Amino acid sequence: MFSANRRRFLRQASSAGIGCSANLVFGRFLSAQTQTSNPSEVVRVFVDSRRTVAPLDRNLFGSFLEHLGRAIYEGIYDPGSKLADSNGLRKDVIDEIRQLGVPIVRYPGGNFVSGYNWLDGVGPKQDRPRVLDKAWNTLNNNQFGTNEFMAWCKAVGTEPLMGLNLGTGTAEQAAALVEYCNVDQGTRWSDLRRKHGFEPYKVKHWCLGNEMDGPWQIGHMTATEYGLKAEDAARQMRYVDPSLQLIACGSSGPGVPTYLEWDREVLEQCYDYVDALSLHRYIGNTKQETGEDSSKFLAMNLSMEKQIAETVAVCDLVRGHKRSPKKLWLSFDEWNVWYRARHGDARNGHGQEAPHLLEEIYNLEDALLVGGILNSLIRNADRVKLACLAQLINVIAPIMTNPNGLFRQTIYYPYSWALQFARGSVLNLLVESPGYEVAGMGQVPYLDVAGTISADDGKVSLFVLNRDLSKAHAIEVNWQDKAPARTLSSFLLTGDDLKAFNSFDAPQKVAPRTLDKPSIAGGRAKFEVPARSYAVIQWGS
Ligand code: AHR
Repeated sequence: MFSANRRRFLRQASSAGIGCSANLVFGRFLSAQTQTSNPSEVVRVFVDSRRTVAPLDRNLFGSFLEHLGRAIYEGIYDPGSKLADSNGLRKDVIDEIRQLGVPIVRYPGGNFVSGYNWLDGVGPKQDRPRVLDKAWNTLNNNQFGTNEFMAWCKAVGTEPLMGLNLGTGTAEQAAALVEYCNVDQGTRWSDLRRKHGFEPYKVKHWCLGNEMDGPWQIGHMTATEYGLKAEDAARQMRYVDPSLQLIACGSSGPGVPTYLEWDREVLEQCYDYVDALSLHRYIGNTKQETGEDSSKFLAMNLSMEKQIAETVAVCDLVRGHKRSPKKLWLSFDEWNVWYRARHGDARNGHGQEAPHLLEEIYNLEDALLVGGILNSLIRNADRVKLACLAQLINVIAPIMTNPNGLFRQTIYYPYSWALQFARGSVLNLLVESPGYEVAGMGQVPYLDVAGTISADDGKVSLFVLNRDLSKAHAIEVNWQDKAPARTLSSFLLTGDDLKAFNSFDAPQKVAPRTLDKPSIAGGRAKFEVPARSYAVIQWGS
């Protein structure tokens, strides 16, 4: 019985690779997701616990905090606030992030980092300079710097992902920061940290600059110049601490004219010195990108999957050129929906402290796409080992604060489910779903499904995006080996109005509800997902 099922599974999995045009366009994602022609047909998901893609690195669900707008000042650090602790850290925000369980947080930028002198943000607070940040035209009083960030990381239980200034900063200054953070004592910069009163932090992950391909970036340079600088910085940093994991700047998105060529040239210079390459992506439901068509918008995670496949191809091309035994991993260290608070005054701080910048308000359809993006990251966990939802508080963020508290934006929910339920290894699922035509993308399946299985306790979680704007779909999960005994949890985010959003006045307008628990019988689980929805279901013994 088992081997007949398995043969069927393998047959279906291999035929899925040739059945549809989107397979060719979007590569790897659709290799195991097929479209059936009848839209009312039951969607079938085949799960075989022995077929996995890769172990899931928890850093796939990281986030990002930049010295930008009200992310740091007011967002997490607000010494004058009634909600702050004795160090000036917002206690309600600490509780929220600790409970979310964010594994890694990138800091201090972003565009900000390319003009930042880390020395301005350490030492006695009264001596720290007030500096105009030219990336966001904002005044930074430097009361929050490296040591305050490390204290915040400890308080929320996360790991730092430190960004380095390779714009105005030098390779020597980058290595000095590594020495300040990681060396125990007895050297210039480690002794300075000791003088400031701190033990070493042993920071493992470092970004060698930010979006250095972008003409908007302070210190923007050519790929070859950047590749040489990254190599020099990496070499000097490794003298200080050989255990580092170093991420080179890849292209800041498929829209830049140097897309992929930048990545290739950078890696030709520094491949041997780095461990990973970064990629960034922000998606908008705009005239230009989607024709403001929500059914296309909800398919855009597939174009991120294409971006991952293309970037992997470049990494492996250079690996081949170099005859290198080393395979790079990818750091998708900025991703989100971002298009409303993106222009003009939304990005100009007018020389003020903690201005309201990039305060994007997210609606239901944004949350559904964020769910889809998380599915894409999960499916690509063999190469994408780290990713950051950009950002975390107030600035294009799942959490917004005011002097009295905070509220959860719509995108908070799919992110929190990934953090809570995606555990263990990524399942290599076979999904048979009806599809629809999307301009420029071909056939796209209505149902986008990703899944994980935990070896420790056998728990299986499926994450299901229903892109169909008008119809519910019935889903049948077929276990190819041992079916779980019961459904443990099932949650759903949906609603009639794709443009509905949360606010301080109506914080629960878009909020999860429980999905009727799927029935399990004869090695199958059956349930239905409503139109315009994202769901998570977890099974166990
Ligand atoms: O996250 C906001 C900005 O977007 C970052 O500073 C920059 O790296 C990107 O362009």
